Amino acid sequence: MTRIDDVFVLRPSPGEDRQAVEAVVTEAFEQGAGLVLWRAPAGDWAARRTAWSLGFALAPGVHRTGSAGGAARDEWIGWLGRADAHEPRSRWLEPVVLDGERFRLRPWRQSDATRLVETASDPVFQRMMPHSPLPRATQDVPAYLQRVRLSEANGVRVAWCVADLETDVALGNVALFEFDTDEPDGTAQVGYWAHPEGRGHGVMAAAVDAVSTWSMGSQDGGGLGLRRLFLLTAQSNIASQRLAERAGFVRVGTERASAETADGGWEDNALYDRLRP
Ligand SMILES: CC(C)(COP(=O)(O)OP(=O)(O)OC[C@H]1O[C@@H](n2cnc3c(N)ncnc32)[C@H](O)[C@@H]1OP(=O)(O)O)[C@@H](O)C(=O)NCCC(=O)NCCS
Repeated sequence: MTRIDDVFVLRPSPGEDRQAVEAVVTEAFEQGAGLVLWRAPAGDWAARRTAWSLGFALAPGVHRTGSAGGAARDEWIGWLGRADAHEPRSRWLEPVVLDGERFRLRPWRQSDATRLVETASDPVFQRMMPHSPLPRATQDVPAYLQRVRLSEANGVRVAWCVADLETDVALGNVALFEFDTDEPDGTAQVGYWAHPEGRGHGVMAAAVDAVSTWSMGSQDGGGLGLRRLFLLTAQSNIASQRLAERAGFVRVGTERASAETADGGWEDNALYDRLRP
């Protein structure tokens, strides 16, 4: 712990448990700290989880630090004020494992790298999702997966790999984002894509249906308790619209000129939603 004015800087040791970190934080405030600044190496998930559980506000991204002339470091940064509650500020989202008849919904992992890169290189994918952050090279996969996990830890997005139930090979992706949870029963947007070999079997529609049903389940039962889901798909994306309908979504409108096309133009988006029964 270092002190600068009334700011105490906390760098947890690797593997330090919650109790130990909380004791350091308590002592810092007893010694007059107004603010505890937390710094940990990017990728130390146990440390981030502890800081999150103690109520630290955590910066969403990675910060490149290191003193002048010294080696650069990638760090996560957070802060906790003297009067802040020692409880999480946001939900830590996790892609819980959900089994369907032919697929398993599970977290993405490094062993899916080839399938991610193949999808990113697919012309249909590139036409329909021109601004997707999907990695186009294998060496970019670890950083991509860390960003996916970080967005889940920050409560802003959660993504599932749709894997073949028998082979565990990745077939596609289903994600929830744009959460609006200010109201008691929140809403979210659904997004999806399939690896070229994952298309045409009806698996993706069943996977989107499964994620939708789970997310509308009660929080007590492990769901998210959402009341309404919506999705946007370019008017020209017929496969996606068919999928939406098969997954229980209803077309409710059009958002004019809101889908950016691969050539930099705009086309209409079809708006679909699905309500909790
Ligand atoms: C959208 C996507 C996930 C759909 O995957 P899928 O459900 O396996 O797709 P399918 O090939 O089974 O097509 C779905 C349906 O649309 C139909 N369809 C596909 N293209 C069509 C076309 N051009 N005209 C008419 N019908 C078409 C299929 O016949 C199928 O019909 P069915 O439901 O009666 O069987 C996949 O096409 C994809 O990954 N696209 C690129 C990424 C993307 O567009 N994501 C969605 C962004 S909103």
